[in-house]
Amino acid sequence: MVLTADKETTKETTNKETILVVDDEKIVRRSLTKCLTMNGFLCDEAGNADEAMEYLHNKSVDLVILDIMMPGIPGSELLPRIKQAFPNTAVIMATAVVEPDTIVNCMKNGAHDYVTKPFDLNQLIKNIQTVLEKRNLEIYLKEKSQVLEGKVTKQARELQRLFIDAVESLISALEAKDKYTAGHSRRVTKIALDIASAMHIDGEDLENVRWAALLHDIGKIGIDPSVQNKPGSLTPTEYNYVLTHCTIGPGIVQPLVNETIVEAIRHHHDSYDGTGLNQTLKGEEIPLISRILAVADSFDAMTSDRPYRSAMSAIKAVNEIEQCSGTQFDPVVVQAFLKTSMVKSFKN
Ligand SMILES: [Fe+2]
Repeated sequence: MVLTADKETTKETTNKETILVVDDEKIVRRSLTKCLTMNGFLCDEAGNADEAMEYLHNKSVDLVILDIMMPGIPGSELLPRIKQAFPNTAVIMATAVVEPDTIVNCMKNGAHDYVTKPFDLNQLIKNIQTVLEKRNLEIYLKEKSQVLEGKVTKQARELQRLFIDAVESLISALEAKDKYTAGHSRRVTKIALDIASAMHIDGEDLENVRWAALLHDIGKIGIDPSVQNKPGSLTPTEYNYVLTHCTIGPGIVQPLVNETIVEAIRHHHDSYDGTGLNQTLKGEEIPLISRILAVADSFDAMTSDRPYRSAMSAIKAVNEIEQCSGTQFDPVVVQAFLKTSMVKSFKN
């Protein structure tokens, strides 16, 4: 291997910019190395692609001057390998014959510039300085962008933590006010997520199910608990009043969550057949998350003690939901509910 620079004078120990001349013609790379060294660069040389890659793996290089035509692996093939392994190393292609297609391909593959042989040394030095300035600016911008990305990620995590804290506070406020709904939101969330998973809902859509379920009854913060938990059945007026939690809830959560979650909460008491009180949507017009919540919410309500009745058995509640498939509940959601491991465990 023909490598002339002393290890002690590499970039690690100086501030000079380092250049590797890769050319199969010894006389060309020697004279170029000498000239560049005289112009203040730290310069080394390699006679072929293998020598060049070995050198680059061992030492940090700012710029490679790469001969396009070389025996074995030509410079045009070596270029993408260099750019992939050492993206911060700039490359100037050197060629005796200008073939526009080859030059265009080299520029597409990451070369910063090209020069023609025989070299006009003054022009070459100018080209090298321009390329190194551009390369240094690119590295500076890349580093700045990585720092900014890190800050954005950190802020996103902080915002998510604040959001979760806010949701937890809202649920705690609701449960402190109404002991009968304590744990209801979290149980409904578990059931809703199981149904959604059985329907192959995932990613951001599944997260929407989670937050809509946790917050679905948040509007009850604005409902008088003496009416909501009244022993005995509600009069139509009282029922209408309790149902206003579906319009109060969206107003509370709107600053915190996306529109999908807001609308899911607004419609979580809608009947699939459109016969619910003050209902404007029916069937699949009702948001899918609302249709999932309707099943999960009803199952948990039926299997929980209320002031005016004891909890229904799980199997009875499942039968009740099956009977209301197509009327109160979306049949597709009911089928998914029946596929959840929780329901399967009751039925077996
Ligand atoms: Fe509700």
